[in-house]
Amino acid sequence: MSAVERERRLVVVSNRVGPLDDEGKAGGLAVGLADALRRRGGLWFGWSGDTAENAAAAKEKTEIVGDTALVTIDMTEEELNGFYLGYANRTLWPLLHYRLDLAEFDRGSEAIYRGVNARFAERLMPLIDADDLVWVHDYHFFFFGAELRRLGFSGRLGYFLHIPFPPPEIVSALPAAHDLVSAMLAFDVLGFQTETDRANFAAFVTRELGGEAGEDGLLTLDDREVVARAFPIGIDAEGFERFALSPEAGEHEEMLRDIARDRVQIVGVDRMDYSKGLVERLRGFGRLLEEHPDTHGRVQFLQIAPLSRAELEAYAALRRELEELAGHINGRFATLDWTPVTIMTRPFTRRALAGIYRGARVCLVTPLRDGMNLVAKEFVAAQDPGDPGVLVLSRFAGARAELGEALIVNPHSADDLAKALRTAIAMEPDERRRRHAALRDAVFNNTAADWCETFLAVLEDDLKLPA
Ligand code: ADP
Ligand code: F6P
Repeated sequence: MSAVERERRLVVVSNRVGPLDDEGKAGGLAVGLADALRRRGGLWFGWSGDTAENAAAAKEKTEIVGDTALVTIDMTEEELNGFYLGYANRTLWPLLHYRLDLAEFDRGSEAIYRGVNARFAERLMPLIDADDLVWVHDYHFFFFGAELRRLGFSGRLGYFLHIPFPPPEIVSALPAAHDLVSAMLAFDVLGFQTETDRANFAAFVTRELGGEAGEDGLLTLDDREVVARAFPIGIDAEGFERFALSPEAGEHEEMLRDIARDRVQIVGVDRMDYSKGLVERLRGFGRLLEEHPDTHGRVQFLQIAPLSRAELEAYAALRRELEELAGHINGRFATLDWTPVTIMTRPFTRRALAGIYRGARVCLVTPLRDGMNLVAKEFVAAQDPGDPGVLVLSRFAGARAELGEALIVNPHSADDLAKALRTAIAMEPDERRRRHAALRDAVFNNTAADWCETFLAVLEDDLKLPA
């Protein structure tokens, strides 16, 4: 046990909280944090997932799981609409995924977003003290650190952004961009998924706010000094490998192989989100069938896509488009005994998913933009090293920085996707094993535990506390 673990309690703040068990919800944040908290314990604070009539009626719920207390509060309907469905997912999510075309700018939802940051910080304040390491997560809580400081919190404050941080040219389209990035400087340590995200953030602070960049990620603005660095998130690789060897995984692996018969099974596993490149991916698969008739009846594609943020029109529209395109491809190419594409929106247990990854010959992870993408790492951890499958990975996924031995593609290009699929299908066992060994090293050498420890070591390091 490190000194960090002995001395200080970890307090995690994120919109979604838990679960801590194996059956984590679809979403990289919940999975990554559950792995970290299961190991280390502490307090995990955030939204209950429920709504209350009014903020005063919003009771605090506490659940103790092992060494972790999960403390959640409700949102009002207005907050749910303005904060979660509004500013967080209609404005910030598209903007930070480089989708200015989808970003909506609305003063009302911005005010509610700031209000939720303030109210949640007020509710957390009595539960923490200056010795705690407070670690706030993701784009829901950009103002949380500034709010805690306003309330007098003087302890160490860390922040980790799970999604991309685009260049200043994009971020500055947000009317509140200057306020938002200035508010982020209330944290002591800011973590990003990749070096690109970190550099984009530093560019905003220096070019737009007039700050200065120093050594080792130090950023200075007026009297504030913060450290901004890349801390790529990992998975519990050994744990996930164990899932892949469990009886439940075995059943799913076998089912998949049974359905595939001697066909090449291709899978994709993503929340139904426009950042994941699902339509473009399907077009790539369609291009393969169109241009290579020898693949007919020899490949099949299973896309697992649990519904996400389905109340938002952009997500509902994506679902319609995806299902229409799948229907079109099946209508055009299917035979009596072969359905090329299947889309499933139901959730799976993590063991079942691990078995599905292991039973697949190819995994398509082709987001148009992604902070990291844990599916890519899970697929690698689940493979049989003696007969591994092939990972096809977008150059725009954060995971690309660590997983260069995957087949790297431009997810916007149907030709590129079709070509990578052909290469993957034909890849000899020796090359599959060689690539997989390198990918496996990367996944097992930077786990969720490493991510957490590295971040917290920097956070705890005796940097200057704000006056
Ligand atoms: P994001 O955070 O944008 O959803 P990630 O790829 O980083 O993307 O994380 C997604 C996580 O959700 C992974 O851990 C994956 O296993 C999990 N997941 C995806 N689909 C399902 C599903 N159908 N059932 C259960 N978990 C899922
Ligand atoms: O990591 C990205 C992320 O947006 C998390 O912040 C979030 O919890 C997850 O994906 C799933 O999205 P949601 O919480 O909106 O269901």
